[in-house]
Parts: sequence; structure tokens; C-alpha cells
Amino acid sequence: MISIPSTEKRWARRLGNALATPFTPEDYLALFNPLHSARETRARVRQVVRETDRAVTLQLQPNRLWRGHRAGQHVLLGVEINGVRRQRCFSLSSAPSDPYPCVSIKANGQGGVSDHLVRHARAGDLLVLGEASGDFVLPGPAPERLLLVSAGSGLTPVHSIAKELLASNQELNLVWFHFERRYQDLMLASSLRDLSADPRLDLRVVLSGEPPRAGDLQGRLDEHWLTEQQVDAEERTLLTCGPAGFLDTVIGWHQRHGRAPLLHERFQAAPVSAGHGGRVVFARSGGEMRTDGSVSLLEAAEQAGLKPQHGCRMGICHTCKCQVKRGRVRDLNSGESRELNNEAIRICIHAAEGDVEMDL
Ligand code: FES
Repeated sequence: MISIPSTEKRWARRLGNALATPFTPEDYLALFNPLHSARETRARVRQVVRETDRAVTLQLQPNRLWRGHRAGQHVLLGVEINGVRRQRCFSLSSAPSDPYPCVSIKANGQGGVSDHLVRHARAGDLLVLGEASGDFVLPGPAPERLLLVSAGSGLTPVHSIAKELLASNQELNLVWFHFERRYQDLMLASSLRDLSADPRLDLRVVLSGEPPRAGDLQGRLDEHWLTEQQVDAEERTLLTCGPAGFLDTVIGWHQRHGRAPLLHERFQAAPVSAGHGGRVVFARSGGEMRTDGSVSLLEAAEQAGLKPQHGCRMGICHTCKCQVKRGRVRDLNSGESRELNNEAIRICIHAAEGDVEMDL
């Protein structure tokens, strides 16, 4: 192999940059291969699998900046909608050992990124892909006896975890209850069938809206349901993910009965009673508005016509972090309020609790 002295390499790079001005060589490479970027993790959609009439799985081919993920983590996906880049957080449904990362997405009818991807994503589309993050991951080595409890889209990170565990040779005893209204709403059905063939997994789909097939169950989760299942639920490490009310029920049950650790992932900010609200001043853009205590600072800024960066809108991705110059804010998850002085906070999960001045 011929080695190029580092000074010459530097000169060659400078010459490349000079010739390419005002664009960098990276920009020109991206013209030929949009997946190419030295700065941004991007992914091409390899395949779109239609899961239900309202859900798809996107199999992604990331560029070389992708550093992989741990089972249970989420990513920020960015997509251009009507010329504006929008982003949202999605849990990965694939296992880290799968050849390609996948996200499984349900339309939510709000006209945002989820709805757009379910309706319009096609093989070959280019997406911006954030780094995988999140603490909903199993400690290693994984406990042998686990109870997985999921509902709706909460299926996706739990699927990733179950798939990764079952891909190992580890001794396991997994019980998994997944709650859904009807079979036709169930994502990843064929993968769930494959996983169920493993004798280490006892998977039951629990339906609330129609009679179940053999082996599945009918019902709704309440505070007694898990105790009634005769699966020594109290003794198992519990992993749970789903909508806020569902999660509150599982966590409440665990507080009263659980004797093993609990891991959970919340898909919505927990609703708390409204606070006082207040006047929000946007220092850089010069606007201001009055909010009630249930409107997040992100929503307040949007209502004032601003477009702050954001992703998940649930406090997970930290994309919306923004400086509060001064003022009292309330955490919409915990209900706690505190006085801030030049501090960056996630504005999607904080509301004004008095007059607030933001660096926006
Ligand atoms: S938008 Fe993700 S933390 Fe606020």
C-alpha cells in the first residue's frame, strides 16, 4: 500500500475544499449519494412492511456513522414534509443482532411524522437518523425470569428486547402479556409468531375489543389482573411499556406487589393537574403570550408562531432543550415547580408557572 505523507494529505484536503467552495467535497459527494454524509447519520428505507392498515415497519440502511443500538432504545427520525424537516422519536423494533435496524410506526391521526411515514414512506426514501438513546435496556447479564407487559405501540421496544434475549443461548423464562384492542391492530404479528415457537417464551395477546383465539386472553388491565394470572408475576423482573394510563396501572401494581426490579418506558407525558400558567416572553423574537398551566412552553412558542426544534414531545430526546432566562416553570410529569435563571430545560415537558422569559 502507498502511504501519503500527512502534510500532503492536508494540502490535498485544502485544495479539495478550495475547489469545492462554497460547498465542501462532502456536499458534492452527497449529490451523487445522498446517504453519504460526514456529519449526519442518515438512513435509506430498504423496505416498507405494511403491518396493519394503520402501521408500517421501516427497515433502514444507515450510513457509516450509525453506531448501532441496544435492545429497547429509541431514535429520532427526521423527514422532510412539505419542504420542512420534521422529526419524531421512535423505538427500534429490531434486535441489535438483526442485519438492519427497523422502526415500527403506528399512525396517530395527528398529521405529523408518524402519519406521514405510515402513508407515504417508500423504499429508497432518505431519512435523518439520530443516535440511539434511552435507558429502557436490560442490565447485563439479563435476569432469567422476566415479565414483559406492553400495550399498543409499547410493543416495539419490548419486541426488540425479547428478540435479542431469545437470540442468545441464555436460560430464560419469559412471560409476555401484550394488550391490544383487536388482532388487526397488532404490529409485528409474524415476528411474534416466530418468537412464540421458542419454548422459553410464553406470549399471550390480551384483547379488549373482540374474542381471542386459542392461547390468547380477553380482558383489560386493572390493579388485580397481573396477580390473577398465576405466573408468579411478583417474583419476576418486570419490563413494561405503553400509554400513560396503562403504565400507571402496572407501576401501581408493582409498588404494591412486586418483589423484583421494574424497568419502564413511558410513551406520553403523564398528565397532571393544571398549574397556574403565566406570561411567556420570547426574548429574541420579541413576542409574548399568556398561557394556562397545561400548555407546555414548546406549545406556547408554536402558538406564538415560532418553530423551536423538537422531536418526541415527551421529554425523551432532549432536542427541544432551550434556555430559560428567568422565571418559574412546572414539570408536567412530576408537577414540581422551580425557579430558573439561565438554565436549559426540555420545553416540551415544562409549562410556565408565572412570568417566564425564554431565549427564543
Ligand atoms: S421534544 Fe424530545 S425532549 Fe422535548
